[in-house]
Amino acid sequence: MNLLKNHPILNVMKVFLIVVLSLLSIQNVNGRKHHKHHHGQIFEYSAISCCRTHTASLTDFGGVGDGVTSNTKAFQAAIGHLGQFGSYGGGSLLYVPPGKWLTGSFNLTSYFTLFLHQDAVLLATQDENEWAVIDPLPSYGRGRDADGGRYISLIFGTNLTDVVITGNNGTIDGQGAPWWDKFHKGELKYTRPYLLEIMYSTNIQISNLTFINSPSWNVHPIYSSNIIIQGITILAPVRSPNTDGINPDSCTNTRIEDCYIVSGDDCVAVKSGWDEYGIAFGMPTKQLVIKRLTCISPTSAVIALGSEMSGGIQDVRAEDIIAINSESGVRIKTGVGRGGFVKDIYVKGFTMKTMTWAFWMTGNYGSHPDDKWDPNAIPIIQNINYRDMVAENVTMAGRLEGIAGDPFTGICISNVTIEMSKFAKKLKWNCTNVEGISSDVTPQPCAALPVQGGKACDFPQDKLPIEDVKVQLCSYKANYM
Ligand SMILES: *[C@@H]1O[C@H](CO)[C@@H](O)[C@H](O)[C@H]1NC(C)=O
Ligand SMILES: *[C@@H]1O[C@H](CO)[C@@H](O)[C@H](O)[C@H]1NC(C)=O
Ligand SMILES: *[C@@H]1O[C@H](CO)[C@@H](O)[C@H](O)[C@H]1NC(C)=O
Ligand SMILES: *[C@@H]1O[C@H](CO)[C@@H](O)[C@H](O)[C@H]1NC(C)=O
Ligand SMILES: *[C@@H]1O[C@H](CO)[C@@H](O)[C@H](O)[C@H]1NC(C)=O
Ligand SMILES: *[C@@H]1O[C@H](CO)[C@@H](O)[C@H](O)[C@H]1NC(C)=O
Ligand SMILES: *[C@@H]1O[C@H](CO)[C@@H](O)[C@H](O)[C@H]1NC(C)=O
Repeated sequence: MNLLKNHPILNVMKVFLIVVLSLLSIQNVNGRKHHKHHHGQIFEYSAISCCRTHTASLTDFGGVGDGVTSNTKAFQAAIGHLGQFGSYGGGSLLYVPPGKWLTGSFNLTSYFTLFLHQDAVLLATQDENEWAVIDPLPSYGRGRDADGGRYISLIFGTNLTDVVITGNNGTIDGQGAPWWDKFHKGELKYTRPYLLEIMYSTNIQISNLTFINSPSWNVHPIYSSNIIIQGITILAPVRSPNTDGINPDSCTNTRIEDCYIVSGDDCVAVKSGWDEYGIAFGMPTKQLVIKRLTCISPTSAVIALGSEMSGGIQDVRAEDIIAINSESGVRIKTGVGRGGFVKDIYVKGFTMKTMTWAFWMTGNYGSHPDDKWDPNAIPIIQNINYRDMVAENVTMAGRLEGIAGDPFTGICISNVTIEMSKFAKKLKWNCTNVEGISSDVTPQPCAALPVQGGKACDFPQDKLPIEDVKVQLCSYKANYM
C-alpha cells in the first residue's frame, strides 16, 4: 500500500489525468440520458487508496430503483464500463442512488468504488435460477451446505486490487428467508450464496454499510490481504441458519473495526479451510486485528476461531469488544482431522452481558467434509491470551476442552471478573486437556490454570501493518438522482 506522496510533479500528472478523464467521461455520456436536474449533492466517503475521478450512476446504465425491475444487467454494464478506466486518475466509482435496486449477482473490478447512498437498498433476487453456480473453494473441497459447487455471492470479486465497497450506511438486503427455509427442509441443490465475497485480492475496503438478512454468511474475504472492514452493521434474525457476520478466511493483514453485528451464527468467524482440503491448500489467516466490535449472538460466538482452521490461524488481536446475550465470547472450535494450528491469540478489553460460556474451547467439533479426513491430522493450539474482561449473568465461566493426547497449551487468563447468573451451574469451570496459567480471575479457574500472581497475559505492543494504513476522505458530487 504505497500511497503516492504529494510531490509537485505528481500533482501536475494528476491534473493532467483528471483533464484527460473528464474529456473521456464527456465522450462516454454521449448517447446517455441527460437528467435535467443536476442535484449536485456532495457525498463523502473514505478510501483506502486514491479518490476516484471517473464516476457514473447506476441510472446511467438503465438502472431502475423500483424494487421490481431487475438491475443485474445495469450493474454488470456499469462495472464493465468503469472497469475499462483501470487505475487512471485513481480509478472509478459507481454511485447507487436512493431506491430499491433488485439485482442478481454482479462482479467487481479493480481500482473501483461501489458507493451506496444512505437510502439505497440492494435487494438480492430470490430467483434461484438467477444465481450462477461456481466451483467450490479449493480449501473446502465442497460446498458447506451441499456437495459440489456453490451459488456465487451477490457481490463477488476475484483477482482484484484496490476495491472499496462503501456508502453512507446504504443497505444490502439478502432477502434470505426462502434460502433459510430450503436449508431447514434440506431442499438446497447447492451451497447458499453469501452477500459479499472477495477472493485472491488485495487492498480491499468494506465500510459504512448495513447488511441484512443474508442467505448465509455476510462478508467473506478469502485468499486475500490488506483488508479494512469498518463501520459495518450486520443484522439477521438470531434463529437464521449460518448467518455469520464477517469471516476472514485464509487472509493476511486484516483490520475489522467499529462493527455492530446481530446474527444467527458467529459474529466474526476466523477460518482457513476444511480438513484435508484446507491442509493441502495451506493458507493461514494471520495478522488480524478486531477492535470495537459489538455482538449479539444468542446461539454462537462473538469471535470464533474455526471450526474450519486447517490452514492455520495465527496472530489475532482483539480489543474493546462488547457482547450481549451471546452463547460464548472467543471460542476455539477444532477437532481431530482438522490439522493446522491456532496460535498467538491475544484478547483484551471484553465486556460481556448474559452469556452461556464466557470462555469456550472445543476440541471435538466434528463436522468433516467427507470420510477422507486424516485421523492423524491433529491441530496445534497454543499461546492463547485473554485479559481485562468483565462478564455478568454468566451460566458457566469456562468450558475448556482440549484433545486427549494433544493438550491445548499456553493458555493465559488474567484480570477477569465473571459474575455468575442465578441459574449458574455449580461447576463454574470445566477443563480437560488444557494447560496454562491464570492471575486475578474470579471465580477461581480450574486447577489446569494455576495462579501466577500478578502476571498480566501478553498483548503485543507493536502494530500490524494494516493498522498504519490511513483512509483518506474523498468526496463525490452526485449529478444524477
Ligand atoms: C463473475 O466471475 C465469476 C468467476 O470468475 C464467473 O464465474 C462469473 O460468470 C462472473 N459473472 C459475471 C456476471 O460476469
Ligand atoms: C486468480 O489468482 C489465483 C491465485 O493466484 C490463480 O490461481 C487464478 O488462476 C487467478 N484467476 C484468474 C481468473 O485470473
Ligand atoms: C446504519 O443503519 C442501521 C440499520 O438501519 C442502523 O442500525 C445503524 O445505527 C446505522 N449506522 C449509522 C452509523 O448510522
Ligand atoms: C463511516 O463510519 C465511521 C464510523 O465507523 C465514521 O466515523 C465515518 O464518518 C463514516 N464515514 C462516512 C463517509 O459516512
Ligand atoms: C483490569 O481490567 C479492567 C477492564 O475490565 C481494566 O479497566 C483495568 O485497567 C485492568 N486492570 C489492570 C491492572 O490491568
Ligand atoms: C440473565 O440470563 C438469563 C439467561 O441465562 C436471562 O433469561 C435473563 O434475562 C438475564 N438477566 C438479565 C438481568 O439480563
Ligand atoms: C466436564 O467436561 C468433560 C469433557 O468434555 C465432560 O466429559 C464432563 O461431563 C464435564 N463435566 C461436567 C460436570 O459437566
